[in-house]
Amino acid sequence: MRDHSDLQAMNDRSLTQQAAVRKATFSPGEVKALRPFSIWEISQFMFDVPADTLRRKLADDPSLPQGETEDDGRQRWFSLAEINELRRRVKLRGKKLAPERPKGRAMRVAVSNFKGGVGKTVVAQHLANAAALDGYRVLCIDFDPQATLTHSMGLNDVKEGNTVWGIMCRDLCREADRIMSTYDDPDDCPYPAADELPDDVQSIGAQRIQDFIQPTCWPTIDIIPSCANAAFVEFASAQYRGLHKAWTFFGCVARYLDELPDDQYDLIIFDCPPAIGYQSLNAAFAADILYVPSGPGYWEYDSTTSYLGQLGDAMEDISDGFATLAADAGISLPKQFLDVRLLMTRFEANNPLHSAMMDAFRNVFGADVCAHPIEMTRAVEQSGRFQMSVYEQDYRQMTRETWKRARQSFDRAYGEFKETLLTAWRENAAKKEQ
Ligand SMILES: Nc1ncnc2c1ncn2[C@@H]1O[C@H](COP(=O)(O)OP(=O)(O)O)[C@@H](O)[C@H]1O
Ligand SMILES: [Mg+2]
Repeated sequence: MRDHSDLQAMNDRSLTQQAAVRKATFSPGEVKALRPFSIWEISQFMFDVPADTLRRKLADDPSLPQGETEDDGRQRWFSLAEINELRRRVKLRGKKLAPERPKGRAMRVAVSNFKGGVGKTVVAQHLANAAALDGYRVLCIDFDPQATLTHSMGLNDVKEGNTVWGIMCRDLCREADRIMSTYDDPDDCPYPAADELPDDVQSIGAQRIQDFIQPTCWPTIDIIPSCANAAFVEFASAQYRGLHKAWTFFGCVARYLDELPDDQYDLIIFDCPPAIGYQSLNAAFAADILYVPSGPGYWEYDSTTSYLGQLGDAMEDISDGFATLAADAGISLPKQFLDVRLLMTRFEANNPLHSAMMDAFRNVFGADVCAHPIEMTRAVEQSGRFQMSVYEQDYRQMTRETWKRARQSFDRAYGEFKETLLTAWRENAAKKEQ
């Protein structure tokens, strides 16, 4: 017979093993670091110019960042901070290197599906990396207590108060006080004030906006992390709703993000849990764009279909049930996404079953399906072993062709993502100007 203590002991053994793997992978500091990028990569994949054009530009102006030489001494390697400085200071063939950035706040994209293993985290991580390499400042929010994105970004010691759970507690306190303040006589308010909420909610809720945001090894990617204990937010939130019946529990993260300065980030990417619950509804209500990855198998198609229906139903229920409370809280319902896109992942072009499934997706969802699927690639498996994305992985440590094909697949998906993003972003910026 085995009970909870056996499960806990198994958990302990595995955590010890993981710590050993981290030690071996990220030695000597056991801290994940971002590698530099070669002239070859920068010219071919980022600036889209011949390497010699870039070399000449650097030689002409010694005040520009010059990178470091490695190996044979010919290839120069640049940190992302140096690449971003080049973006600010250099024009190549008359073209600016900084990416377009419409006015206003950052765009928010939820990568979501309620099936596990469809590639949500891999997609969120690679889009975040690609956007940072493109010159954008990115905030990732890990809504999934499995915390794969958090771990893959090198954070391992996270407390639940510093996750979306904490943001929800803080929101509950702030909303409780806001709602109380709308009554001339506090005794008329049927709901509690913040100081009448449980002590743990108040203490987690006392954090400041920036306390939830942690740096990663990428100079332009921050993260609001998750951890296993954050799974209990699903139980806790049900309890909080019981404590404060006027709390618009689905609007916490949107309200939180509205408090951030508009120019702190360009893009905010949510990695969602494989479930429809308090966290994923917060992600949906905060998102401008919904990105739904799905694998090429029949059951993934089946599950994606259910997910769209379930999320639609949950959003409709909220629109009906919360119309008045949401209006009081300044939330306009029904929730509108600027775009919804489906992205096929782990796709093998020469697999007839995958092609048939892609056709089925296109038949049913038409232009909402991304033209460029993410290909199945050993580079993801290989780089995953080192707890890195394809972008983070040094191409000298695997077959160059495998790395290049994988990178190009993610780059194509990112290119299409960027078009979707910019269209929505310009629309949002134009709406604000009116
Ligand atoms: N394009 C890909 N090629 C190869 N393996 C992939 C690819 N995308 C995802 N995987 C693998 O599939 C598994 C699930 O991916 P993950 O992103 O964690 O899914 P989710 O977040 O939806 O649960 C992981 O082991 C991951 O390494
Ligand atoms: Mg995941």
